[in-house]
Amino acid sequence: GFYIGTAAAGGGHHESQPYPDPFTKDLEYRSVLASEFSSVSAENQMKWEYIHPEQGRYNFGMADRIVRFAQLNRQVVRGHTLLWHSQNPAWVEQGDFTPEQLREILREHITTVVGRYKGKIQQWDVANEIFNDSGALRTTDNIWIRELGPGIIADAFRWAHEADPKAQLYFNDYNVESVNPKSNAYYALIKDLLAQGVPVHGFSAQSHLSTRYGFPGDLQANLQRFADLGLGTAITELDVRMDLPANGVPTAEMLEKQADYYRRTLTACLNVEGCDSFTIWGFTDKYSWVPVFFSGEGAATVMWDDFTRKPAYHALQCTL
Ligand code: XIL
Repeated sequence: GFYIGTAAAGGGHHESQPYPDPFTKDLEYRSVLASEFSSVSAENQMKWEYIHPEQGRYNFGMADRIVRFAQLNRQVVRGHTLLWHSQNPAWVEQGDFTPEQLREILREHITTVVGRYKGKIQQWDVANEIFNDSGALRTTDNIWIRELGPGIIADAFRWAHEADPKAQLYFNDYNVESVNPKSNAYYALIKDLLAQGVPVHGFSAQSHLSTRYGFPGDLQANLQRFADLGLGTAITELDVRMDLPANGVPTAEMLEKQADYYRRTLTACLNVEGCDSFTIWGFTDKYSWVPVFFSGEGAATVMWDDFTRKPAYHALQCTL
């Protein structure tokens, strides 16, 4: 009943991640993915721009293959994601739609994508990153909230639930590991939605951590307060990046600190009832998003480029 997951590498979605699709081309990668994990998330392949690149055209190829891979290897799948401000296709962001049309576009998308994988997805990140760090809703950069108002969030959960009544439906975000204005905003919103009977089942902390900052020591207490609302909780995108020295090679001390962050994150989750899904955002530095998005930082995963294990890998294994 406890799932250890990873993101399945995105296949060079980003122009600065130009590697060929590792899911298809890297046999060692596939073998580790199959044997070391019991849950798989699509790093990019179920996002709007990937799965719905043009109006009226879906691109299910890679998402289908990931789901099939998981089934063959007896893994569960986390679906990611349906309502987000980022990685939307141009036809959506730059389209000239009325609110009524946009609402229908979102409804049709959620119904189609969730419906396609009905019974095959354990948890869906229905809404991703809808709040700013200040705790304010993203009313400017999130097209759905901007054009349709905050009520669209509840609708997204309702549509997803209709399409797959057994999938657990989550709110997911970064910088919500601690009790802070952003996680407080989720707490208040979710309480409100539950009171209205909206099908919300979970709250998850992405957990993109950095050794530059202290470990979020109240992670367990924060997850616990959501569990006390009757929700599932999860760690969905854990990685622990670090400032790389000039020679690019982390010191033993840095690796120990990283291992400690991994260990403490897993421990927090294990200590909270209903936190039964723990996912790292890629397992090898070879395909990690971190160096691309955080300049000067890297080495954030539990394995080196050649799949040899770091202290963080052993720390997780010893904690289980
Ligand atoms: C990242 C992927 O890892 C990259 O390959 C992609 O270029 C950008 O998105 N929060 C999320 C994830 O919810 O979808 C993001 O994934 C990382 C931050």
